[in-house]
Amino acid sequence: MKEYNLNENFIAKFDNEKAIVTDSIDVFYGDHQSIFDVNLAFPRFSITALIGSSGSGKSTFLRCLNRMNDSIANVDGNIMYRDVDINSKKVNVYEVRKQIGMVFQRPNPFAKTIRDNITFALKKHGIKDKNELNRRVENSLKEAALWDEVKDKLDNSALSLSGGQAQRLCIARTISMQPDILLLDEPASALDPISTVKIEETLKSLKSKYTVIIVTHNMQQASRVSDYTAFFHSGHVLEFDKTASIFTTPKMQATEDYISGNFG
Ligand SMILES: Nc1ncnc2c1ncn2[C@@H]1O[C@H](COP(=O)(O)OP(=O)(O)OP(=O)(O)O)[C@@H](O)[C@H]1O
Ligand SMILES: [Mg+2]
Repeated sequence: MKEYNLNENFIAKFDNEKAIVTDSIDVFYGDHQSIFDVNLAFPRFSITALIGSSGSGKSTFLRCLNRMNDSIANVDGNIMYRDVDINSKKVNVYEVRKQIGMVFQRPNPFAKTIRDNITFALKKHGIKDKNELNRRVENSLKEAALWDEVKDKLDNSALSLSGGQAQRLCIARTISMQPDILLLDEPASALDPISTVKIEETLKSLKSKYTVIIVTHNMQQASRVSDYTAFFHSGHVLEFDKTASIFTTPKMQATEDYISGNFG
C-alpha cells in the first residue's frame, strides 16, 4: 500500500480571483465518510477538471457546490461564494442554484419544445416579457453553440435532438438563468466522439463568461479543456495545480499512476 501525503494546503496557490472556495469539506452518507477535508479554490473564468477513479468522490464533491447533496448526505465545512457561506442552512438553495448551475451526465431535456425547455425556468422565475424570453432563448442557444442547428425548429420537440444536441440544449437551459458558475458531471460520457469535441469547444468558449467546473473520467478531455485540475483519491484531493503541470510533472506518485493508467 502506497503512502500519500494528505497535508498539502491548496488554497491561495494562485493569485487570480477565486469564484468559489471550499474550506474543510467533509461529506457523510450516514456513517460512511466519502469526502475528507477538501480545500479547493476555483479560479474565476477558467475551467477546472475534477479527475480520479470511480468512487473517489468527484460527483459527491461537485454536488456540494450547489447544495445538491442536501437530501442525501451531510456536508460539513464552509463553501464561500461572494463572501457568503452557501453551505449554511440559512441560505436559500434556489438562489444558490440560480448562480451555480448544474449539467448532468445524461442529457435530460424536458418533453417539451426546444424553446420551452429554455423558457420554462425563466417563466417560473417571473420573466414574462416575450421579447426578453426570445432574447434569452437566442443568446443561450448561441452560447451553447446550438443556435445554428435549431433556429428554424424552436417549436419542435427537444426529444427529436441527437444526444449531443440535447446536451448542448441542457447547457443552454442552465446558462439561460445567467449563472456565474457552471458545474458539469461527465457531460460528454454518453456521447460519440464528434459530439464530445463539440461539447469541449462549447465549454472553452463559455469560460470567458463563466467559471466552469467539470468532472471527467477522460484524461485527454481533462488535458484538452481544463486550465486547472484537481486529483481525487479515496475522497481526498491529493493534488491541485495547473493542468499542464499535473499532466507533465505531477507531484504525487498516485497522480502519476492515475494519469498514466497505471493503477497497480
Ligand atoms: N447516494 C449515495 N448514498 C450512499 N453512498 C454514496 C452515494 N453516492 C455516492 N456514494 C459513495 O460515495 C463514494 C464516492 O462516490 P461518488 O459517486 O462521489 O464517486 P465518483 O468519483 O463520482 O465516481 P464515478 O467516477 O463512478 O462517478 C463512493 O464510495 C460511493 O459509494
Ligand atoms: Mg461520479
